[in-house]
Amino acid sequence: MRARLPGVWSALSMAPGALALVAAAVLWRPAPLQAQALPVSEDCVACHLKLSDPRLSQPAKSFPSDIHSQVGLGCLSCHGSGGSNVLDPAMGFLHAPARKDIPALCGRCHSDGAFMRQFDPSLRTDQVSEYWTSVHGILLRTKGDTTVATCIDCHPAHDIRPPTDPLSSVYPTNVPKTCGRCHSDSTLMAGRGIPTDQVEKYTRSVHGQLLLVKGDLSAPVCNTCHGNHGAAPPGIASVRNVCGNCHSTMADNFDKSGHERLFDEHGLPGCATCHNHHDIEPVSDSLLVTRTATVCRQCHAADDPNGEQFLLIKKDLDSLSAAVQQSKATLEQAQNLGMEVSTALFELQDVTNAETKARNAVHSFSVATVRKETAPGFAITAKADATGKAALREHTYRREGLAVFTLFVLIIIAGLLLKIRAGEAEEQHGE
Ligand code: HEC
Ligand code: HEC
Ligand code: HEC
Ligand code: HEC
Ligand code: HEC
Ligand code: HEC
Ligand code: HEC
Ligand code: HEC
Ligand code: HEC
Repeated sequence: MRARLPGVWSALSMAPGALALVAAAVLWRPAPLQAQALPVSEDCVACHLKLSDPRLSQPAKSFPSDIHSQVGLGCLSCHGSGGSNVLDPAMGFLHAPARKDIPALCGRCHSDGAFMRQFDPSLRTDQVSEYWTSVHGILLRTKGDTTVATCIDCHPAHDIRPPTDPLSSVYPTNVPKTCGRCHSDSTLMAGRGIPTDQVEKYTRSVHGQLLLVKGDLSAPVCNTCHGNHGAAPPGIASVRNVCGNCHSTMADNFDKSGHERLFDEHGLPGCATCHNHHDIEPVSDSLLVTRTATVCRQCHAADDPNGEQFLLIKKDLDSLSAAVQQSKATLEQAQNLGMEVSTALFELQDVTNAETKARNAVHSFSVATVRKETAPGFAITAKADATGKAALREHTYRREGLAVFTLFVLIIIAGLLLKIRAGEAEEQHGE
């Protein structure tokens, strides 16, 4: 694709090869003392491919699969300079750009909406402005801290691929590795006062296992929660929003309980107060007990019934489970005795639905709300129990019926035998 480059870039990188490679090779020396004619991008590639230092040849080798090459941009689209057609760094030819200048370099095109629309109108053009709001950008700008991530740490120069390409450094399953190159490096992060365990914890978490082991892209990864370019820890108040993007039922209930605001005021990080943020573990009902002790009692005294709601919820869920076990046992007993109860056993599975809803309603912090969800579950178990008991009664009835029938038959047989005996005796008597 040959779209129009902004201003002079087009002249620099797209100009048809006016200069032959030979001419370039002869005329051009790196960092020349005097102005010389600029080779075209093809020349850069041809010469750099032959250089023995991998630092100099690798860019030319990997560039063909880079998105910029794919859309028809050449080396000079980044290494070219504004207004000059000379290979003089003083005149703007960019050798390897300094780290602090990289956001501006990429921004020449990526912040230019009119230019980018020629290629892909749906592509965002806020990466650079977002970047400057991130902790990375702020430290780079205000402190000249070049250890932070710049564009090329997450999108390696000369091998930049769209996020949808599974080989891209920012494809979801590759993101933990991309961030971890710095965030898991305790030497690099020394003295900064932040932990270096995010990738390790994330990898173990339910989300990490889902994405990295099962390949399920619906799980969040680093940039889902931290933003693609505005990387900063979510403030306490926005944790609920981050998680609520996917777990909206829990977030709605949490809001309705009034505790979202209360948690913020007390400096508790919303959902992460109970679930953590990087090392989110699978949940179970026992969490209701542990969180009562560690969370509810931070604000509610032990004798405040409000603070005991999680324990009451656990009791309710436990009695539903017990009811399920009980009715299942009854139905299975009937089934083992040969009674037809498969429909009832099948219907009992619907309780799972009610249990799930009830567990989601935990986030209302109120046993009354949970009971609204467990109620249909109890109705199902009650019905199943009744069916099971009726089947058992039916079985008993049939067994009694059989016994009576058998007795009846025996009596008849006995009667017949007696009759036959009597007949025989009469015959003998008559002889
Ligand atoms: C005739 C061969 C040749 C051509 C053509 C050529 N280069 Fe180079 N380039 C070199 C050599 C040799 C070096 C290493 C020079 C040095 O280290 O001083 C180099 C170094 C570089 C560097 C690294 C500078 C640094 O900071 O270490 C960059 C960037 C570069 N070239 C980009 C380009 C671009 C872009 C083009 C096309 C406009 C190009 N080169 C054309 C041979 C060439
Ligand atoms: C999308 C922008 C972009 C394009 C296109 C581009 N480069 Fe670069 N190039 C950079 C950046 C940014 C750096 C600095 C990398 C760093 O600091 O690690 C760089 C560095 C280099 C270096 C020095 C490598 C080093 O590790 O010091 C060479 C050589 C180079 N580029 C050659 C090329 C050649 C040849 C092409 C075309 C095949 C090309 N570049 C296309 C952005 C680009
Ligand atoms: C000369 C203009 C220009 C410069 C400079 C430039 N890009 Fe691009 N970039 C483009 C164009 C055009 C596309 C292709 C958009 C498309 O069609 O998908 C692109 C695509 C991308 C994509 C893939 C987007 C997608 O989803 O398809 C990434 C990532 C990217 N560039 C990052 C960078 C980075 C990082 C730098 C700086 C090192 C940079 N670009 C410098 C013009 C530029
Ligand atoms: C801390 C890592 C990181 C840094 C730094 C970073 N990016 Fe990205 N970038 C990402 C991730 C992750 C995505 C993938 C988003 C997705 O999955 O859609 C992305 C996507 C993109 C895209 C594709 C379009 C889009 O917005 O989703 C472009 C273009 C891009 N980045 C350019 C840049 C530029 C320019 C810079 C420097 C100002 C930069 N990036 C800095 C991580 C980073
Ligand atoms: C090139 C190294 C590097 C890469 C790659 C990198 N970061 Fe960073 N990041 C840093 C440094 C350095 C800091 C500054 C830490 C400080 O001093 O507070 C930082 C800060 C942060 C912070 C703010 C932490 C705080 O509380 O101050 C977040 C959040 C963050 N990075 C997320 C990410 C994510 C997500 C990715 C990947 C998409 C990523 N980073 C990739 C180096 C990197
Ligand atoms: C499910 C959302 C989520 C995911 C996924 C996630 N984070 Fe975080 N991260 C958070 C939250 C929330 C905080 C802030 C917690 C607080 O303020 O108490 C945070 C804090 C951070 C911090 C600040 C220091 C710290 O550890 O508290 C860094 C750095 C960071 N995350 C990097 C990462 C990296 C790297 C990844 C990917 C491996 C990642 N995060 C994945 C939600 C997430
Ligand atoms: C006060 C502690 C607490 C807070 C705050 C909290 N949760 Fe929970 N969450 C729990 C407990 C306890 C469970 C386990 C319920 C059960 O299985 O009995 C749970 C379960 C879950 C589940 C699994 C539900 C299921 O049945 O599979 C998800 C997902 C979840 N919470 C997300 C969130 C989100 C999102 C937020 C913030 C909007 C949040 N939680 C806030 C305590 C909390
Ligand atoms: C991009 C969507 C997304 C985001 C954002 C997200 N999650 Fe999840 N989460 C999932 C998916 C998908 C699952 C696995 C399926 C399920 O249980 O719902 C999951 C599972 C969970 C579980 C385990 C439930 C269980 O059955 O054991 C908890 C707890 C949880 N998430 C809490 C959180 C918290 C807390 C946050 C915010 C810090 C968060 N999630 C952010 C998508 C997300
Ligand atoms: C950050 C402090 C804080 C924490 C932690 C907290 N609460 Fe509360 N809660 C309050 C305050 C303040 C009120 C309103 C005053 C009141 O009615 O006592 C309240 C009210 C309630 C109410 C009554 C709501 C209504 O609409 O009347 C219930 C129920 C409740 N909390 C349950 C819980 C449970 C269960 C937990 C643990 C999962 C918990 N709270 C944790 C501060 C907290």
